[in-house]
Amino acid sequence: MLIVAEHSIDSLSAVVIRSSSGRGLRPAPHPIGIPYFSFQKAAMTPTDSILRGYLSDNAAGASPQILAAVVAASAGPAAPYGNDALTAQMRAKMAAAFECELDVFAVGTGSAANGIGLAALTRPWGSILAHRDSHIQNDEAGAPEFFTDGSKIVLLGGEHSKIDPDELRAAVKAGVGDVHSVQASVLSITQVTETGSVYTIDELRVLTDIAREAGLRIHMDGARFANALVALDVSPAEMTWKLGVDMLSFGATKNGALTADAIVCFDPSLATELSFRHKRGGQLTSKMRFQTAQLDAYLTDDLWFDNARQANAMAARLRAGIADVAGATVMSEPGSNILFANFSSELTTALFDRGFGFYANRWEPGVVRIVVSFAHQPADIDEFVAAIRELA
Ligand SMILES: Cc1ncc(COP(=O)(O)O)c(C=O)c1O
Repeated sequence: MLIVAEHSIDSLSAVVIRSSSGRGLRPAPHPIGIPYFSFQKAAMTPTDSILRGYLSDNAAGASPQILAAVVAASAGPAAPYGNDALTAQMRAKMAAAFECELDVFAVGTGSAANGIGLAALTRPWGSILAHRDSHIQNDEAGAPEFFTDGSKIVLLGGEHSKIDPDELRAAVKAGVGDVHSVQASVLSITQVTETGSVYTIDELRVLTDIAREAGLRIHMDGARFANALVALDVSPAEMTWKLGVDMLSFGATKNGALTADAIVCFDPSLATELSFRHKRGGQLTSKMRFQTAQLDAYLTDDLWFDNARQANAMAARLRAGIADVAGATVMSEPGSNILFANFSSELTTALFDRGFGFYANRWEPGVVRIVVSFAHQPADIDEFVAAIRELA
């Protein structure tokens, strides 16, 4: 008898098949044929090499301040399901950070934040307009469709994974009032985008104006929200509700937390619905204080900004370090902590052999994704740069 166990790292899954005796652990081909060379390598690489590597920002550990906050939250009893003092304190800090009244629902994953948040913004016959590279379309195994009871994601194009305003203008008008057609209901914008670009405030405003004028709700997938904030040097308010964003998937896990993201809702009329959806979605944890301890520490003393600045700065250092290397061409826009590049297969293989981990060949042959985290230090980057320069 075979047991199939899935180990999910970021958006790819490796499957190992082992005999029921527990012996004979061996990697198997990816069941749905996604090229997974780099992931397979990483899955078999010792943990310290993964941490040294660049698979994703969630390959990093957690910030010491967040670990300490979780330990501190364990002292003594606390009311369950978010009725504790720490959760109230975290809500107040979030409201202060965004300079407005808001509702916060801690969740365990960004996919949960996206799916549950989107469900409160659309009816099943509504559609969600999103970029064709979006995480909600490509990397959530249909969770948004599941949580929304089957809403359709309508895909839009645009350079560098940023939605093209003209495509959005056309999409908000398509099929309006036609009972045979889904009704455009939500614009979902990812900031930082999946390929590492950062919308400027003006670019965001063009999109949000189109959406608001057409009566759509606005969702922001902010899995790397802090990285975008520090890249643009704007306030959380300027990048969200001041533009008309109704709902934010607030990422923290990729930037220092252990297991905590949040749905941040700027429209109080959605709070009751969200409360029930949060519970039904299995995200109302009984020991909520451990989730909120992470978010509370994240929002304290600018930890979220400091971590994001570190990640972005280390990515910029890497970019600069390989700018003149012919066999390692960076294609993505600068600004955030994600780099897409073209590496020859020889270079990729040689880097894997040195123990560097990153995704390769998932998108197109030769395309690699390198994600730098808050935990990377200049010495890590310099070591990686030196290896690329030597091996390219
Ligand atoms: C753009 C984006 N949104 C959302 C997520 C949330 O993913 P998860 O459900 O793995 O926390 C990710 C993680 O890779 C992401 O890159």
